[in-house]
Amino acid sequence: MRKKTTIPEILQMKRDARKIAVLTAYDYPTARLIDAGGVDAILVGDSAGVVFSGHENTLPVTMDEMLYHVKAVVRAKPKALVIADMPFMSCQCGEEPALKNCGRMLQEGGAEAVKIEGGLNMAPIIRAVAVMDIPVMGHVGLTPQSVHRMGGYRVQGRQNQADRILEDARAVQEAGAFAVVLEGIPAGLAERITASLDIPTIGIGAGPGCDGQVLVIHDILGLCEKYSPKFVKRYADLGPLITEAAGQYVSEVRGGIFPTEEHSFS
Ligand code: KIV
Repeated sequence: MRKKTTIPEILQMKRDARKIAVLTAYDYPTARLIDAGGVDAILVGDSAGVVFSGHENTLPVTMDEMLYHVKAVVRAKPKALVIADMPFMSCQCGEEPALKNCGRMLQEGGAEAVKIEGGLNMAPIIRAVAVMDIPVMGHVGLTPQSVHRMGGYRVQGRQNQADRILEDARAVQEAGAFAVVLEGIPAGLAERITASLDIPTIGIGAGPGCDGQVLVIHDILGLCEKYSPKFVKRYADLGPLITEAAGQYVSEVRGGIFPTEEHSFS
């Protein structure tokens, strides 16, 4: 019988050189299905704002929306560790509101950890939260909440920026994070950061040298046609299957083929 994944287990996985597999989920059925697939952690990402709610970026996502998604995922009772992403401005206004908002994710949402975007700039906030025994995952490199500063979703840490990203990752570790997401950085830099940290690195668009990987569930299932970044691998193409099933239903209803006696009560 599979045991519940805990924070110490995630840390042990790095020491044992066992790769950590993480996927996002935003709802109960998806959390159940990916947990059955054996993921080590489920990230309830604020990517929900884009792939679930249809926003252009993650900035409009609110605490209440994230709590709704976290609660739905937690109801699936996954063996995977549940990590709640902290939405834009939930942690940026100081230690007190950050602590309160992160606490809500565990107390009301039932998550087991939170994820906070930012490096050196967010280290004091990460420290204040982690010291209160709210496990924090960091997130450095291409941080989607910084889309306007970056001028779009561009690879970070190229040329003279590389040391800055390494510093960010170190600051996050020193502040007490148990793991850090490395997003959208050159594979060589991700490898260097991974080797220099004691905590696991979880890569997305950061090459194979990280301690683990994370992808957005809609991307790997072919449910989001808007764009498909280079780092995504599509493991299934469910979009056309759903459209085809809906089309078949429509034509059977219109043609009087569905429902039959089999689907009716006497
Ligand atoms: O919001 C999210 O899903 C994320 C991952 C892509 C790392 O932050």
